[in-house]
Amino acid sequence: MTMSEPKAVTYLVQPGGALAGTLRVPGDKSISHRAVMLASLAQGTSEVTGFLTGEDCLCTMKAFQAMGVKIEQVAPTHLRVHGAGIDGLKAPSSPLDLGNSGTSMRLMSGLMSAQKFPSTLIGDASLSRRPMKRIIEPLTRMGAKIDSSEGRAPLKIAPVSALKAIRYESPVASAQVKSGILLAGLYANGTTEVNEPQKSRDHTERMFRSFGIEIAIDGNHVALRGGQKPRAANVQVPADISSAAFYMVGAAITPGAEIVLSDVGVNPTRTGIIDILRAMGAEIELVNPRDFGGEPVADLRVRSRGLKGIQIDPALVASAIDEFPIIFIAAAFARGETVVTGAEELRVKESDRIRAMCDGLRALGISAIALEDGMRVVGGRMRGGTVDSRGDHRIAMSFAIAGLRAEQPIKILDCANVNTSFPGFAELARGAGLRLAVS
Ligand code: S3P
Repeated sequence: MTMSEPKAVTYLVQPGGALAGTLRVPGDKSISHRAVMLASLAQGTSEVTGFLTGEDCLCTMKAFQAMGVKIEQVAPTHLRVHGAGIDGLKAPSSPLDLGNSGTSMRLMSGLMSAQKFPSTLIGDASLSRRPMKRIIEPLTRMGAKIDSSEGRAPLKIAPVSALKAIRYESPVASAQVKSGILLAGLYANGTTEVNEPQKSRDHTERMFRSFGIEIAIDGNHVALRGGQKPRAANVQVPADISSAAFYMVGAAITPGAEIVLSDVGVNPTRTGIIDILRAMGAEIELVNPRDFGGEPVADLRVRSRGLKGIQIDPALVASAIDEFPIIFIAAAFARGETVVTGAEELRVKESDRIRAMCDGLRALGISAIALEDGMRVVGGRMRGGTVDSRGDHRIAMSFAIAGLRAEQPIKILDCANVNTSFPGFAELARGAGLRLAVS
């Protein structure tokens, strides 16, 4: 059993809650991972504030501590990272356990491929089922030596004398793949290039720049010269739009609701949820736009509105990829049909999110049809019942929010992994008006 094997946690949501108030959801998961990684590789001391203390990011932090990096938790969400320098990591004495975190595993496989010592990356049952070929393949072309179990974790990474730069035409829009290649590219001879079919989130590129690393960006194409050394920088992590999304939908579907979500990261590669909810008729206002070290941030004011079903533009899929579970809940309470296509990546997330959401919605009396690459959902009346989150944090939180509008209680099984991305979800939700009990 790995450290993040889920304990049995069950949510029970009673109908009739309504959301109100000003909420600050925890720090952005993608940015928190990258902050620990770059600060660890930098020369000098970096302060990271607003760090997400979810299990996924703690796995990343512990992995770097296991490689000799001194990271102090000055306050729960404030890290002081004493960078080891680009060549300063030390061989860990045991496998690096990355829990449930695909981001840690894919990004770190790039980094570990370039080290002068061997390493083994392991994870929980869900992570051990997820596809790693997508990162092993380009890294192997760079000269990395990675042994896997048919393209899945554990990944055993052997040291090599040098990596060579490649130009990689990625078949998937994946920030994890792009970032894993770029981290390896820091150590490679020559200029590493990645081109993507759609632009994936660009937090790595933005953070490289704040740590003094030059990177050329042209649309979906990035190029990085090897041999550059990151310099320490302070990182202020915005609130995670993927966590805010649950409350955005909660407010949009509940008559009379109005909330403000503060300090939310609104990087344009992440704001598909805003575009999609607005297209469904939601009222979302961006207040006080500002910048946290190269990442755009705003407060989001969301008011309830009757939503309508829409055909979601496949061009928005990449920028809303983690939000589809909660978008399907919005669709369940919208007038008419919502259709999502071009989202086959949902099949290989922490669970098969098309199946998990389709089964759950149907168990609650909503008409939903799974497509190979998406789903059709017809809005209607949701009764109560029991759904299985399959250990997937975002499925669990989505059905918890659905409880605001269901006609009877909803019981949600296997919710422990909510802590991977959103520690304190239940407390924050209760404080905002959701009638949620945890057992
Ligand atoms: C992430 C990239 C996305 C996203 C994940 C976080 C990242 O995954 O789903 O939650 O931090 O790079 P893919 O790269 O598989 O699209």
